[in-house]
Amino acid sequence: MPKQDSPTEMQEHSSRVVGPSAEDRARADWLAAELEKHNHLYHTLDLPVISDAQYDALFRELVRLEELWPELRSPQSPTQRVGGKLLSGLAKKDHSRQMYGLDNVFSVEEWRDFVERMRRAWDASGSVALPLTFWCEPKLDGLALEIVYVDGLLQEALTRGDGITGEVVTDAVRTIRTVPLRLRGEGPFPARLEVRGEVVMYKKDFHDLNARQQELGAKVFANPRNAAAGTLRQLDMTVTQSRPLRFFAYGVGECRWSPAVPCLSCGELMARLGAYGFLTPPHGRLCPDPESVAEYAEQVRAEQDAFFMEIDGAVAKLDNLDAQEALGFTARSPRFAVAFKFPSRQATTVLSAIEVQVGRTGVLTPVAVLEPVALGGVMVSRATLHNEDEIRAMDIRIGDTVIVQRAGDVIPAVVGPVMELRPPGAQEYVFPRSCPACSQPVYREEGQAAWRCENVACPAIRLRAITHFVSREGLNIQGIGQRWVEQLVAGGRVASPADLFALRMEDLEKLDRMGEVLARKFLDNLETARQSATLHRLLCGLGIRHVGRETARTLSRSFGDLAALAEADTQSLLALPDIGPEVAASIHNFFATPANRRLLEQFRSVGLWPKGESVAAPSAALSPAVQGPLAGKAVLFTGTLRMPRTLAQELAEAAGALVLGSVSKKLDYLVVGEKPGSKLAKAQALNVSIVQEEDFVDFLRLSGLTVPPGTA
Ligand code: IVH
Repeated sequence: MPKQDSPTEMQEHSSRVVGPSAEDRARADWLAAELEKHNHLYHTLDLPVISDAQYDALFRELVRLEELWPELRSPQSPTQRVGGKLLSGLAKKDHSRQMYGLDNVFSVEEWRDFVERMRRAWDASGSVALPLTFWCEPKLDGLALEIVYVDGLLQEALTRGDGITGEVVTDAVRTIRTVPLRLRGEGPFPARLEVRGEVVMYKKDFHDLNARQQELGAKVFANPRNAAAGTLRQLDMTVTQSRPLRFFAYGVGECRWSPAVPCLSCGELMARLGAYGFLTPPHGRLCPDPESVAEYAEQVRAEQDAFFMEIDGAVAKLDNLDAQEALGFTARSPRFAVAFKFPSRQATTVLSAIEVQVGRTGVLTPVAVLEPVALGGVMVSRATLHNEDEIRAMDIRIGDTVIVQRAGDVIPAVVGPVMELRPPGAQEYVFPRSCPACSQPVYREEGQAAWRCENVACPAIRLRAITHFVSREGLNIQGIGQRWVEQLVAGGRVASPADLFALRMEDLEKLDRMGEVLARKFLDNLETARQSATLHRLLCGLGIRHVGRETARTLSRSFGDLAALAEADTQSLLALPDIGPEVAASIHNFFATPANRRLLEQFRSVGLWPKGESVAAPSAALSPAVQGPLAGKAVLFTGTLRMPRTLAQELAEAAGALVLGSVSKKLDYLVVGEKPGSKLAKAQALNVSIVQEEDFVDFLRLSGLTVPPGTA
């Protein structure tokens, strides 16, 4: 037999000829690491360093390399976050260690009883006194998940399931941008690390998702937890990917730390998970005794509504991990941890009428008018009913006693009627066929749940569109709320957002309760808004369907100018990251509509024409800059930094940031060192991005700033 026919020879031969070169391999590794770093900076730290276009170029290069050499495509490759396949159903798998639930306590008394039980269980084992220090966190209302890392690489992800067996959701979890595909840092990593935590959807994202679903006539979700669960179990990864989920790590399952870097307490564990690249529950805190745990729970409850995600309690865990292990579990739950549950936020009341509201996109939303009832600390007299089908599906009639709940949003929703209390003759509701604001006929497309008013001149739609434009979702113009907009629209002085910028003193002084001083302030505020407007905020303000903050940011960076965006064809929109066919079509249609074209011209003529945010320029200079990667951002430092604080401040300023003295809503980034104080909790409560000092230094270096060596 000729020598070259031997299979081993053939293989060797072919792999030498058709395998990727060492350079290709190195390049693919570099690209993967680089993309993951930017994912972390962008999604977890909210600190983008490169433009979306630059990211996209790196991404496409890796896709091309992997297409050429499929063996370079590892499951941890960032390209695998983007899934296109339809799975055939979820597989099931046992957890290597059971995922327990938590026992609940509903009062301080029950909490004291729990501590007492814990102490007795401890004393029975005859050891030294139990250290009663607790690590406390809010209880995130999402979906429990376990992610398994082998030698630092994401291997699989399981839902909690019944605690023993979970569903395999690895593909869906890979699409979550705040989940590291590879643990950050140098290692050594535990050979097997099971990270446990909660998958959640932020209230804002939940609200946006439901609005989108409602427009599409698709299912609306009852609360963010259902939305997160539904999304994670979605088999179509393109859908999963379009719905923003976040993962917060709160513990570990099986894990053997290297003896060189032991992990002794919950606090240390959280810090380590943070260093690995995970988000951890905001507001985590060490409480030195049981009394301060009760205070902590009360504090979290008081701030429950202000949180950017749903929380349904506080969790207290014994901080010492050895003590945790010694106490162990009952059949259902750990003896070392408990959930302080908050009172339910459901109530019953009588539905006295149904009104219909017209939204800024013309969608008609039925609203329940309720007999006022206390719900989670506020009086509620209105609640959304979503759409005609929901009313029918719940079989809600006027006069019914209904259950209302607050979930995922400050806007309460009706859950359903209490059938036993239905009065005789309760009337079924007939959805109107004409717009309550302009009396024009309304339409409902086949397969859609929403009725719509299509009248471009409908006063209700105009009013809503302008109110949205000036609101925090849009340009955030101070002092111009709905009541002024209502008067200006009703008086015929303002018909579009651009008309606001052509207002004069005499237009304003005609308004009810508007004096000269107020009118002047009003115009000043408009002027400030005109000058400080950014393109992405302006885009948000336009309320283009399916264009939220992230997409607006992408568009603003990629096009830099409204005119360029208005000319973009669907193809070039589709080439951008995270823009699918539906979003591209919506953007294209918006700018193809003559009335919207006229609006752009009006913006130009009133001088409202912001440019896209400058892409982080690789500037080498350490000079004070109005530009720079942190231009327009407010930064504050807290805790013990490795570098001198003055140097940190100088570096931030050199990057274009404004260094603030205290935490407020204006703060964009809180940079934290060791032992951060109360500023951290405050910043978390305000949803300010928290950045570790090391990441901050990385960011500056990556942005091209010279950072003296040895600073981190
Ligand atoms: S610690 C041994 N911490 O609450 C269990 N759980 O009924 C340790 N949860 O299934 C859990 N936020 O999914 C912990 N900060 C937090 C949490 C949290 C939410 C969930 C968890 C668990 C359920 C307990």
